Amino acid sequence: MKQHNDIYILGIESSCDETAAAVVANGRQILSDVVLSQIDIHRIYGGVVPEIASRNHVEAVDKVVAEALAEAGVTLSDIDAVAVTYGAGLVGALLVGVSYAKGLAQAQGLPLIAVNHIEGHICANYLTYPDLVPPYVCLLTSGGHTAIVNVTDYDGYDVVCSTVDDAVGEAFDKVARVLGLPYPGGPQIDRLAQQGKPLYKFHSVVTSNGNFSYSGLKTAVINLLHNAEQKGNKLDPADVAASFTRAAVDGLVDRLSQEIAHSGAATVAVAGGVGANSYLRARLKEFEQRGLRVCLPKLSLCGDNAAMIASRGYYMFCNGEVADLTLNACPTLKLRGEKPHR
Ligand code: KG4
Ligand code: ZN
Repeated sequence: MKQHNDIYILGIESSCDETAAAVVANGRQILSDVVLSQIDIHRIYGGVVPEIASRNHVEAVDKVVAEALAEAGVTLSDIDAVAVTYGAGLVGALLVGVSYAKGLAQAQGLPLIAVNHIEGHICANYLTYPDLVPPYVCLLTSGGHTAIVNVTDYDGYDVVCSTVDDAVGEAFDKVARVLGLPYPGGPQIDRLAQQGKPLYKFHSVVTSNGNFSYSGLKTAVINLLHNAEQKGNKLDPADVAASFTRAAVDGLVDRLSQEIAHSGAATVAVAGGVGANSYLRARLKEFEQRGLRVCLPKLSLCGDNAAMIASRGYYMFCNGEVADLTLNACPTLKLRGEKPHR
């Protein structure tokens, strides 16, 4: 029997190369947050190998869930619902979490909540700032998504603009590869950029109709390196990393600034892996000088984790948004309110 009066959600996340489970109380308080990363396994391939990711999720998921329950000091009888990421992500990897969650929910007679990974990333802010309530504007910056979203309510997302090609995290990873840095490239570029000077200028990543485009920036970095090589010059990788970071981040911040001026938003938040970038965090802090509240999730909550999935699951649970056993993985799942580009 349940030993408490709160709502405890068990979150499960397996969309890419992290097997994660967490217990969160009332959408806001982390009781446990276990993340088992497969980075060391995939690094030798220079990126995530989907089949290897799926197999490792299968091996890890049961242990990770048991650890999350133990760390929270609870048993399954204390859990009110099981929330699982069902998209977007790698189909095989997602299926491991979805199948496991379905089995667990069915066996325990618990409601099953199907969480959109991107909506989960946004909820990392609720875990860092327990008093944060919508509305606010959120800059979404992950390995698969880049967008500015007006979060109108716990379930309301108005996508203002998004990338027409690569995501910003993808650009960080690709440029890191060109510079010979190991996977995942984002944190490596972040470290290197801090030792360099932004000597090289690139075109803005903001398109003429106010969306983002990152494929041109990646090509521009490759061309810069090739041209220098042909002339027998060796560029300092730290300067290239610093220049790329400026271009990748400044466009996001400029477009965000434009949207804030347009909407009059009083609070700005960031979500997703690139939200850990030190230059982006420093640039976002500048909005405080304009009287805005700036929410930057804890570094451990920017990347993939299950606490954010449990937080999102809580708000869906409160809305009665329960899934059934027909739930399937949806690798190309979009954010609610996101319109596809032509
Ligand atoms: O949100 P996330 O963990 O996974 C997805 O949902 O995609 O984002 C992963 C992305 C990767 O591309 C990674 O290189 C990038 O976030 N990233 C960073 C930093 N830390 C992670 N990019 C720039 N600077 C960082 N410090
Ligand atoms: Zn993610």
